[in-house]
Amino acid sequence: MIQLIRGFKDILPGEVELWQEVEKTARSLFEDFGFREVRLPIMERTALFTRSIGENTDIVEKEMYTFPDRKGEMITLRPEATASVVRSYIQHKLYAVDPVQKSYTIGPMFRRERPQKGRYRQFYQINAEVFGIESPLIDAQIIFMLVTLFTRLSVTGLTANINSLGCPKCRPAYKEKLIEFLDGLSESLCSACNKRSSKNPLRVLDCKVPTCAESVKDAPSILDYLCPDCKDHFETVQDLLNKMGVEYIINKRLVRGLDYYTRTSFEIQTTALGAQNAVAGGGRYDGLINILGGPEIPGIGFAIGFDRLIDILSQNMEPRIRQPEVFIAALGDDCQKVAFEWTNALCAEGIKTEMDFSGKSLKALMKRANRLGARHVLIFGESEMKEGVAALRNMATKKQILVSLNDIVRNIIKNII
Ligand code: HAM
Repeated sequence: MIQLIRGFKDILPGEVELWQEVEKTARSLFEDFGFREVRLPIMERTALFTRSIGENTDIVEKEMYTFPDRKGEMITLRPEATASVVRSYIQHKLYAVDPVQKSYTIGPMFRRERPQKGRYRQFYQINAEVFGIESPLIDAQIIFMLVTLFTRLSVTGLTANINSLGCPKCRPAYKEKLIEFLDGLSESLCSACNKRSSKNPLRVLDCKVPTCAESVKDAPSILDYLCPDCKDHFETVQDLLNKMGVEYIINKRLVRGLDYYTRTSFEIQTTALGAQNAVAGGGRYDGLINILGGPEIPGIGFAIGFDRLIDILSQNMEPRIRQPEVFIAALGDDCQKVAFEWTNALCAEGIKTEMDFSGKSLKALMKRANRLGARHVLIFGESEMKEGVAALRNMATKKQILVSLNDIVRNIIKNII
């Protein structure tokens, strides 16, 4: 038997209802905040990701599914959505109509990481991006929107971590200081961090290897190196969050795994998933639109790890599965043919209706109706056909009434609502 690819998974009925519910809640909330959906391709030219996420990141160095297409052009299954949202904004010159764009997108991403709990090679993100607003008000608003979504979904035990990563004016001086600090630590850093410490030193700060975490405890903090503009911006974000009642901690070691970030960055963390503690991550990326060939327009956004959110939710939430309103227990060929028409008519009226096509006994049909959780069963056999009535049974109260076969669809609807 051909099995699915490692790190990929099927989302089956029983679980999919939870996904649908989360998606519905997210869409409705985001739209209330003025976001509109964009649907973008899952493959892009490789250069889009190398240029935006950064050559020296784990994602670009070792996690992308990249291959030549039949004409030799390098293409990549998207490891994240932000780069594509930016590309489409530039490509369709959306900024010319209105530089402010708020969009969201939901879909699969691909990273060839080592699969483990909460980490998949195909995973889903719920992504929101805002272009064209420099004010810290929007930073606070999207964090508020994100936290509100978790509240609506009754997810608890989450901590919002925030940090500022500065800007091209202030970050280089910090980077230099950090490299200097890491220089003396090569003995105690893991081999990956030894490589990172000159090329991408900020990443060393959030290495999960215990000796690395211990070694960087006293590393210089970016927050001490922010230029006055970045400092102001970050302080305003904090003030606004305080006013909005959003709880957060300042995590000066929060650096994120993609190179495009500037200023505010944030992660919503959980302890419910072991090593994979980030349920959502995001931040500002004021230079990215320009780096990808567009005008100097700022951006900010986040992505929720949909799979991780579902992993947490399913620990204490049963998906709501819509039960059939009516199950038609039709006995015998002739009755089945007639009942088949009623079934379709009821479904078309928006009444979830099931019937059994196998011609089983009444006892077997009642068993099936019970298993499906049907609220009503319509019993329809030859004698009912002769008498011109069928028995409609309420499965909760066990009360049974007779409904006329004349205009039966209306009669059923009248009696079940
Ligand atoms: P990211 O932190 O790489 O950011 O991913 C966002 C979220 O996706 C993570 O917090 C995590 O929940 C989920 N995630 C990442 N990798 C996996 C995986 N292998 N398996 C399951 N879930 C995963 C970004 O992707 C940015 N584009 C976010 C963003 C949007 N920043 C600004 N706008």
